[in-house]
Amino acid sequence: MHEASIDGVIRKIWIDRAGPYRDHLLRLDKESRRNRFGGAVSSEFIENYAELSRGLDCVMHGYFVDGTLRGVAELRPLGHEFAQEAEAAFSIEQPWQSHGVGSALLERTLLAARNRGIKLLHMACLANNQRMVDLAKKFDAELTFDFGSVVGEVEAAHPTPMSLWRELVADSHGFATAMLDVQSRMLKPA
Ligand SMILES: CC(C)(COP(=O)(O)OP(=O)(O)OC[C@H]1O[C@@H](n2cnc3c(N)ncnc32)[C@H](O)[C@@H]1OP(=O)(O)O)[C@@H](O)C(=O)NCCC(=O)NCCS
Repeated sequence: MHEASIDGVIRKIWIDRAGPYRDHLLRLDKESRRNRFGGAVSSEFIENYAELSRGLDCVMHGYFVDGTLRGVAELRPLGHEFAQEAEAAFSIEQPWQSHGVGSALLERTLLAARNRGIKLLHMACLANNQRMVDLAKKFDAELTFDFGSVVGEVEAAHPTPMSLWRELVADSHGFATAMLDVQSRMLKPA
């Protein structure tokens, strides 16, 4: 598994995610915001978008540094409950870009997609977003990506007992880290 090269932990975000997600998206610099949403969007749009994520059936992995959310990968099934297609989107705040965080988040997202029987993963990405294209290329053994168009399509492999186990291990590690994080913040002097 890819590990981010700078301090921080990656774990799934289950509850209370709208507020931290909104604050993270609002901290994105102008270019990253544009790349994330495929065009210029207002802060109000972001606030509504983050609020919507509360109710959506999406799997969200977060990259936390000292308890603050600095990167997110969203995996959102398209259509009904047992959808075989999903959309993936990534956002990493500028100081944490180019340190392997995107690679680690994409790897986790692919594993989650595979374990949910998702066959096709759409990655909405502006054609000139070279870093995202480079990132997708790193996984071209696991996915096919159409670089000529704005939307890339990924073929996620089938789940195996080992892939389910890998997600379980990653989740339990993430949960333990989250608990330690909460405890250490409670113990920090105000
Ligand atoms: C696109 C994005 C997700 C990539 O994540 P990242 O953490 O910056 O990427 P990584 O460090 O894992 O690098 C992935 C690959 O991109 C390329 N890359 C990374 N930094 C680069 C740079 N400064 N210049 C050129 N290529 C670069 C490399 O090929 C790298 O692979 P390598 O480290 O094995 O050589 C992140 O930069 C981001 O959130 N950008 C803003 C929002 C966005 O564009 N979202 C995507 C659309 S949804």
